[in-house]
Amino acid sequence: MKIITKDLVNWYQLNKRNLPWRNTNDPYAIWISEIMLQQTRVEAVINYYNRFIKEIPDIKSLAHIKEDALLKLWEGLGYYSRARNLQKAARKILGDGKNTLPNTKEELLKLPGIGAYSAGAILSIAYKIPTIAIDGNVYRVIGRVYEIDTPINKPSAYKVYASIVEKNLSKEYPSEFTQSFMDLGSLICTPKNPDCKNCPLNKKCLSYKMKTQDLYPVKDKKNEKKIEERSVFLFVYQNKLAIRKRKETGLLASLYELPNSKEYNSLIDVENAFLDQQINYQSIMEIGEAKHVFSHIIWYMKGYLVFLKEPLKDFIWVDKKDLEKNYSIPSAFSYYINYYLKNF
Ligand code: ADE
Repeated sequence: MKIITKDLVNWYQLNKRNLPWRNTNDPYAIWISEIMLQQTRVEAVINYYNRFIKEIPDIKSLAHIKEDALLKLWEGLGYYSRARNLQKAARKILGDGKNTLPNTKEELLKLPGIGAYSAGAILSIAYKIPTIAIDGNVYRVIGRVYEIDTPINKPSAYKVYASIVEKNLSKEYPSEFTQSFMDLGSLICTPKNPDCKNCPLNKKCLSYKMKTQDLYPVKDKKNEKKIEERSVFLFVYQNKLAIRKRKETGLLASLYELPNSKEYNSLIDVENAFLDQQINYQSIMEIGEAKHVFSHIIWYMKGYLVFLKEPLKDFIWVDKKDLEKNYSIPSAFSYYINYYLKNF
């Protein structure tokens, strides 16, 4: 395998964009920038970032600022849960008796709003710890350079790409390495009409050699089922289980189901959502992952068993007998229904 580390880092050092979060070594500021950049373009983030860092310069002030004032600073950026999660994370850090952002993947992943990508970006950029951070730019650059045939919309793709990025990781320049993909992907290795003549990787790039830039990264079209990640809840109160009826249109119309929602990244995000919704629970545990393939959709589910302190309104509360006799729950939920039937 041709290694591209030096080509990337050298190119970045000469061509990097001058962006405000690149003029600091403060992990806090880099964290804020990465969260803002998660769903928003660089140009749109710059002014928000500068104002945010001026008004809320550190973890302590983030933890203490009134939510209204925080959201005002975020107004226009969208995805407001990012701002709320930042504050929750700041409060958690202080609550843990610290006043700096943690510097291990394990601890970073426990903070609301930080997933594998953000953790990798923060560790490499702020702490100079060689860590992979795979985003769309990385898929495009790596997919093209090595002509990777695993479709990036298959769950197995992450491992394939991660192992290649790992092999290329720069021990000496982790921050430059991570950010080189962002700039190369935005300036040269663009989705359409890439500027291959000026690319530092063109001598090693298989797609350039074979003129297959438009075919990579590979996306599986024929089998393009929509992937939905869902969190599924076994809400239990006095050994009874909460179910509900689905709406009259769409997938599994009018059938009964277990309560479920868009997927939360982690247990801590679920706990925070419950706090927000004033769901009063005694305990909560992860009970495993399941997959269900519909004709046009695939659900990847993560399940949680939640013992409630009081029953939630708007659900039907059933026991094992009811479930077996009176309510049929679609097989998409079998893994979790069986968990309930076995354990209660
Ligand atoms: N997108 C996400 N993180 C970024 C960064 N540090 N610089 C430029 N674009 C980014």
